[in-house]
Amino acid sequence: MSGHQTAQPMTASKSGPLTGTASVPGDKSISHRALIFGAMAIGQTRVTGLLEGQDVLDTAKAMRAFGAGVTRLGTGEWTVDGVGVGGFTEPADVIDCGNSGTGARLIMGCMATTAMTATFTGDASLRKRPMGRVTDPLSLFGTQAYGRKGGRLPMTLVGAANPAPVRYALPVASAQVKSAVLLAGLNAPGQTVVIEREPTRDHSERMLVGFGARLNVEQTNEGHVITLDGRPKLRAQTVAVPRDPSSAAFPVCAALIVEGSDILVPGVSQNLTRNGIYITLVEMGAEIEFLNPREEGGEPVADLRVRFSGNMKGIEVPPHRAPSMIDEYPILSVVASFASGKTVMRGVKELRVKESDRIDAMARGLEACGVRIEEDEDTLIVHGMGPGGMPGGATCATHLDHRIAMSFLVAGMASKKPISVDDASPIVTSFPIFEGLMAALGATLART
Ligand code: S3P
Repeated sequence: MSGHQTAQPMTASKSGPLTGTASVPGDKSISHRALIFGAMAIGQTRVTGLLEGQDVLDTAKAMRAFGAGVTRLGTGEWTVDGVGVGGFTEPADVIDCGNSGTGARLIMGCMATTAMTATFTGDASLRKRPMGRVTDPLSLFGTQAYGRKGGRLPMTLVGAANPAPVRYALPVASAQVKSAVLLAGLNAPGQTVVIEREPTRDHSERMLVGFGARLNVEQTNEGHVITLDGRPKLRAQTVAVPRDPSSAAFPVCAALIVEGSDILVPGVSQNLTRNGIYITLVEMGAEIEFLNPREEGGEPVADLRVRFSGNMKGIEVPPHRAPSMIDEYPILSVVASFASGKTVMRGVKELRVKESDRIDAMARGLEACGVRIEEDEDTLIVHGMGPGGMPGGATCATHLDHRIAMSFLVAGMASKKPISVDDASPIVTSFPIFEGLMAALGATLART
């Protein structure tokens, strides 16, 4: 999907109250991994609840290009006929990862220790994003990478024919980099060790164990030390993908700021490496009840009952929480605009290298909507205007970024005047049913 998509402007107007049940789609991180681990296992993996967003569809296509059989049986129901660790065949064409940094970085990892050449590209957003953070550790295995200036796509990787195992301390808190190294370590002899100072989402570790790899996680004073035994026989699994807590954050936050709302969002992950946004919202005074806690698809989940919360206060978000809510700062900055007092988000410079520079995109858009913002390289500060206080009345640029588009549309559901986005088309990458789901709750959205 690297070709130019036609821009789809969209406008959100004062809405609600939002009521009903918001059943969000499958988790994006787990969906990518189900296809990739399935492709590297022996036998047929069955996946239910797969997110059929464009990012994941691009990963499905890539796994086929490496020789796996990937078949859609019905909505969210897929099978993957794996080729085993080291069993990939060289792709005959360029691997197009569309908008997806997770797809690109994880797939680079999984081919990096097999003797083959693959060329990667993506859309205009992905072609701006740094890949050196992945190719640096992959070069320690013996992989060679030839990309554009600054380690940008398009990029060709030559997999290591005789890979050496690696010990690597992550210089940035990134689950994508951690996962790329672990995936490369699968086809290296001996033990590959990844050390992370701050815990990041742990889906790769959980799923690798589920697929039969030997992996040990130890907490030391260096941080989490993850040790993977190379060349395991991964065995096909049944993967039930739980709902995506990052997607759930959009209807949850909409209900918090739209007056009179009362919604239920079932099956939201409470995995400690993903739930930072929910802890933060509760600290701000959000009325969220966590009902029926249980396990689904190997993840702890709860049903969230969310009511309009007119008494939310700005807070200082602890920087150490950033990895567990890294994708939720854009929507948090919208909620912060409807709280009273200021919300301070520090330690967030990773937001500058996401699908867009999310600090800049949110700062410029919120300012255009009448909100006072302060920012520096690593910080975003939002001066809240209280419930219903945001003037709105602006068109915000989404920069090919699904979460920026959804964040401003949610803001427009509660601002005084409507808010438009210049392009809502990227929403299909992660939350293809966003428009219909929000409209069914009572949101006023119009394609313009
Ligand atoms: C992801 C990791 C995070 C996150 C992304 C999904 C993953 O990226 O922002 O949406 O599935 O591993 P980083 O590794 O760049 O933090």
